[in-house]
Amino acid sequence: MSDYIDKQTLRYYSIISNIIKQKKELFSEFEIDMIKDMVLSGDYPDIYHQDVLRELFDEVGLLPDEENMYETFIQEINNQFDIKNNHIVEVGGGRFPRLAKRISLKQNLGTITVYDPRLDLEEKSNEKMILKREEFTGKQSIENCNLIIGLMPCQGINPLLDAAVAYNKDFMVWFCEGGPHGDYYDYFEDDYEWFDSTMEHLEYQVKKKNMGTVKMKTLSKFSDYPIVYNER
Ligand SMILES: C[S@@+](CC[C@H](N)C(=O)[O-])C[C@H]1O[C@@H](n2cnc3c(N)ncnc32)[C@H](O)[C@@H]1O
Repeated sequence: MSDYIDKQTLRYYSIISNIIKQKKELFSEFEIDMIKDMVLSGDYPDIYHQDVLRELFDEVGLLPDEENMYETFIQEINNQFDIKNNHIVEVGGGRFPRLAKRISLKQNLGTITVYDPRLDLEEKSNEKMILKREEFTGKQSIENCNLIIGLMPCQGINPLLDAAVAYNKDFMVWFCEGGPHGDYYDYFEDDYEWFDSTMEHLEYQVKKKNMGTVKMKTLSKFSDYPIVYNER
């Protein structure tokens, strides 16, 4: 980090510090230190691609359009599925459900139900956006939705895909290095082994359930991890 901190970085630092102060309960001490250090490093756009930081920047309206992963992902979903009129379930919406909120504002007949145990307790549902402050285990019924999505939902990826296949629902998930952690994770050598195994199982299940084929797209500007979805 250079000793010189420019005006923009200082302004961002002040805005982000302020919102963290107001929403202290959403972050661990470690995360608060990390967030402040990263913002002060001024290392944009890397900062915008860090989940906790992109949420914060988008929440306060500082995420530039060209680095906005939420709008980018919405465009990708929209290219395959009908965002406006589908009932959507989102797994791992984050503390500030930025993706769900943006989608809800574009919806017509559809709704979006977002699961995350870390959701901001002060966040209010609107008539299109339903908040579930809970872990999505894959056991909750998604019978009434037409599409299930996740933007880098870490440990939520496997339950999301399990539910999509169990209920024969369309899905789109932007993978991340999260994968499953803990005991189950130890079963795999690394994230890539977990990814390959997940994809192999998914392709088999999607074919068996006549859900079309599994497609993959990588937007390397944002991440090496692909967006994975089914095409009927
Ligand atoms: C990397 S963050 C991404 C947050 C948000 N989608 C974004 O991109 O800004 C992953 C989020 O997934 C949530 N998550 C992980 N496993 C989950 C599960 N089984 N059900 C619901 N949320 C989960 C975490 O709490 C965390 O907020």
